[in-house]
Amino acid sequence: MDSIIITIDGASSTGKSSLAKAIAKHYDFKHIDSGAMYRALTFYAQDHNLLDDHKFDVDTLIDHLPTIDIDFTNADEITLNGKIIEDQVRSMEVSNKVSLVAKEPLFRQFMVAKQRQLGEIGNVVMDGRDIGSVVFPNATIKFFLEASMEVRVNRRYAELIEKGEQVSVKEVQANIAKRDHIDSNRDDSPLIIPENAIVLSNDKEGLTGLFNIATAEIDKHLR
Ligand code: CDP
Repeated sequence: MDSIIITIDGASSTGKSSLAKAIAKHYDFKHIDSGAMYRALTFYAQDHNLLDDHKFDVDTLIDHLPTIDIDFTNADEITLNGKIIEDQVRSMEVSNKVSLVAKEPLFRQFMVAKQRQLGEIGNVVMDGRDIGSVVFPNATIKFFLEASMEVRVNRRYAELIEKGEQVSVKEVQANIAKRDHIDSNRDDSPLIIPENAIVLSNDKEGLTGLFNIATAEIDKHLR
């Protein structure tokens, strides 16, 4: 079997990671959540007092890049300099700032290089915003996932409440809308439907339906 790269792009909380995880499990592929990598860098900046509501010291964060190692465990958990930070990166504090970090071209270059290196092993499912358009334009199969604002807000609210985060539906909706705007309008690698991507809707299908459609497509390439 040739080495396979599957990309899943889409806006926040459309269900990319759930679909990516289900596909990776089914084929025994590695799942790489590229959003978690931007979240890890954002967490680092906040933890080092380089980013808060009043300031973002981009230059110092750039200076720190050579000392920052963002990676995944064998169980696909995000690590920062060797420490698992799965819970920290999902906080609202990180969600509120991550798009500001992700719009800076130097941080994107840093991530794209790492994402391509992680993809070199092959048999990978990577989800994000620019994976099919920029990181792996020659991917085996590209999906683009859509969902209504209502479905997205409900998904994310339920996830955060389950994790014990104190958050309101209004806050979640405001965060998603703000990130949609920044992620879609930035100059470097904005969120777009990649060329040749198969567009799927989470409104009609739900995870099982999406999984069935996606695996039927992938199976065609595995024959
Ligand atoms: O989990 P959620 O769908 O809310 O977002 P995420 O996939 O964790 O991504 C968090 C943020 O990282 C996004 O809002 C983007 O600003 C940025 N991102 C990006 O710019 N490029 C990617 N390939 C993945 C994420």
